[in-house]
Amino acid sequence: MSELDLIIKSGSIVTAVDTYNADVGVKDGKITTLGSNLSPGPNTDIVDATEKYIFPGGIDVHVHFQLPFSGTVSADDFENGTKAAACGGVTTILDFAIQKKGHAIMEAVEARRAEADSKVCIDYGLHAAITDWNPQTQAEIKKIIDYGIPTFKMFMIYKNEGWMADDGMLFNALEETAKLGGHIGVHAESVDVLDMLIERYAQEKEKWGAYGHTLSRPCYTEEEAIIRAIKWAEVTGGQLYIVHMSTGEGADAVHNARKRGVKVYAETCPQYLLLDDEVFKGENGHLYATCPQIKKPHDSKRLWKGLANGDVQVVATDTCTFDTKQKAAWNGDFRKIPFGMPGVETMVPLMYTEGVGKRGFTVNHLVSLVSTNPAKLFGMYPEKGTIAIGSDADLVVFDPKEEVTIKAENLQTNCDWNPFEGWKLIGYPTTTISRGKVVAENGKFVGEVGHGRFLKRKPHGKL
Ligand code: URP
Ligand code: ZN
Ligand code: ZN
Repeated sequence: MSELDLIIKSGSIVTAVDTYNADVGVKDGKITTLGSNLSPGPNTDIVDATEKYIFPGGIDVHVHFQLPFSGTVSADDFENGTKAAACGGVTTILDFAIQKKGHAIMEAVEARRAEADSKVCIDYGLHAAITDWNPQTQAEIKKIIDYGIPTFKMFMIYKNEGWMADDGMLFNALEETAKLGGHIGVHAESVDVLDMLIERYAQEKEKWGAYGHTLSRPCYTEEEAIIRAIKWAEVTGGQLYIVHMSTGEGADAVHNARKRGVKVYAETCPQYLLLDDEVFKGENGHLYATCPQIKKPHDSKRLWKGLANGDVQVVATDTCTFDTKQKAAWNGDFRKIPFGMPGVETMVPLMYTEGVGKRGFTVNHLVSLVSTNPAKLFGMYPEKGTIAIGSDADLVVFDPKEEVTIKAENLQTNCDWNPFEGWKLIGYPTTTISRGKVVAENGKFVGEVGHGRFLKRKPHGKL
């Protein structure tokens, strides 16, 4: 047998279904051996995982690196964003190629690849965001899926950015992707009511400050849009994925639809699970503005329940980093805040501390939410999302006893603030491995720029 490149020794291997003690042997970027006391050759590297977990690498299926948005560009580019991901135990990210109205989707894909390919430090893929629907777009869907992008995104808001898809487009896209095994992710908010309420609260923007962001986006605006999108999925037979779901009402709607057999899945994010809209009342409340915005404690409670009972299958971050300088553009007008926050670097340890440590989730369930389910739903399994012979050696050695306090200044992200500043974590990644290469150690990036590869993903992802 040829010499192994790397052995991760004496750890507790965790998959979505199993926990057991073994060494992991790696050759040419793949897991080739799982067993006790694997023998190193003279050139084999060793990572000691004694008293630590070995998780499959985290997969964050929702990030926006270097996104032109709100008159600026998100502060983590593909290089720094993927470094931050690696530092936090994430070995795969999915970003977005957003079609320009009147142009081919493939143009956006090629442009995004030109921005990302030479910079990424871990593997990455793209979703294609559809902003226009015509016979060319319809014909392109198959081409895009064959290219390795089986997942699409449609925004039910963002008229001003030129990104909004109306119901007819959504219906058509669900119908077309249903034939081909693709799925449609939606940013679900009710655009007309939202725009009306935003202008209503903007009349008194000095009175409300950043809290106006919350007042103008009540929970029913997300609920209504989710129910509407679910109806289009139901009648077309399309597969729907609700991105960044922020409300308890949304979780109820997904639960009810799944019960009657609609193919709908949902994602939520740490900010919706762990923060509530009181944050907007603080001096720096505007920093927390995301879209959809952070809701109420009862929403978080319902979302946690959804993660526990299967109504919500994926945790991702919607990372869209804006630093304090960029956020200052709001200047007292909540309509002008660049929406978004950092997240990819803290997702895995936050979900461990809060999910496993405080809410009794098993480590296996954690792995299913941040790695295995995303890999299955997004066409990457079993190359990604598990620890098995033949899978990519994307691994995280995770110390369940490591105590870390979140501080923006200690993180890799290009952000000078953090929504979880001062939060105490118990459990942190100590080593992140991407296709057999150590890319981060103890929260610091040690890999190579450009090591990441574009992932050609498969259609028909489901759980
Ligand atoms: O606030 C956010 N989420 N910014 C990025 C765009 C989006 O809606 O996902
Ligand atoms: Zn969105
Ligand atoms: Zn997003």
